[in-house]
Amino acid sequence: MPGHWLLAKLGKRVLRPGGLALTRTMLNQLNIQPRDSVIEFAPGLGVTAQMTLSRQPATYTAIERDEAAAAKVRIFLRELQQRCLVGTAEQTGLPDQSSTVVYGEAMLTMQGPEQKQRIVAEAFRLLKPGGRYGVHELSLTPDELPDSVKHKISHEMSHSIHVGARPLTPREWRELLESAGFKIQAEVTAPMYLLEPRRLIRDEGFWRALRFVFNVLRMPEARQRVFDMRRIFRKYHEHLAAITLVAVKPD
Ligand SMILES: C[S@@+](CC[C@H](N)C(=O)[O-])C[C@H]1O[C@@H](n2cnc3c(N)ncnc32)[C@H](O)[C@@H]1O
Repeated sequence: MPGHWLLAKLGKRVLRPGGLALTRTMLNQLNIQPRDSVIEFAPGLGVTAQMTLSRQPATYTAIERDEAAAAKVRIFLRELQQRCLVGTAEQTGLPDQSSTVVYGEAMLTMQGPEQKQRIVAEAFRLLKPGGRYGVHELSLTPDELPDSVKHKISHEMSHSIHVGARPLTPREWRELLESAGFKIQAEVTAPMYLLEPRRLIRDEGFWRALRFVFNVLRMPEARQRVFDMRRIFRKYHEHLAAITLVAVKPD
């Protein structure tokens, strides 16, 4: 089972590296208004979906690959112009220039280089000129990190979370967006504390965090995997960070 679904099964809802704080930063930069048509790639359990919906955009469309996750997101959708489709972000099937805001969190890092490019190109296609694209992903630091260290981190993380983990340096993330035609508007980084107690409580609330810890402790197999993930995050602490970028499709 991929690490993010294991954490979800144990009761964790916030599955992105910079936690809710960096999500709020991204949403503030995206500045979603009632006139916006929003597309979210990979909403997972719908945590950010709820934050976006509270800003009452004109339309909200989510594209989620996992059917069970999509069903969870739909619970939060109340109006006709709010929907969650099962599909892939690289080929959504949605019309050209049908949105003013596109964003996705913790979903590009797990893709290979070509898939990353295809997803960013799809965001570009979906946006009207002047539209905003937000990402919130795992980053490697510093920009000058040798390739051998990048590969080692990527390899050990992929092995631990059972899903491809290919984080980029801030410069590489910027280049990925710029090569699709975007202009970077904002960049903010935060420490990667996904499985650290303080972040856990801040993201999940005290009681949910406590239940998560209880679930981890009473399931030996899950415990081993969660501890292994945290071990890797701690081992590479100085080279891992969370990053959000907001970019604009030029007029
Ligand atoms: C680590 S979880 C993050 C979920 C959520 N965005 C969050 O930050 O809490 C990754 C999510 O990406 C979805 N996903 C991965 N690749 C995708 C793709 N190509 N198209 C749509 N969804 C994708 C997975 O199904 C999963 O829900």
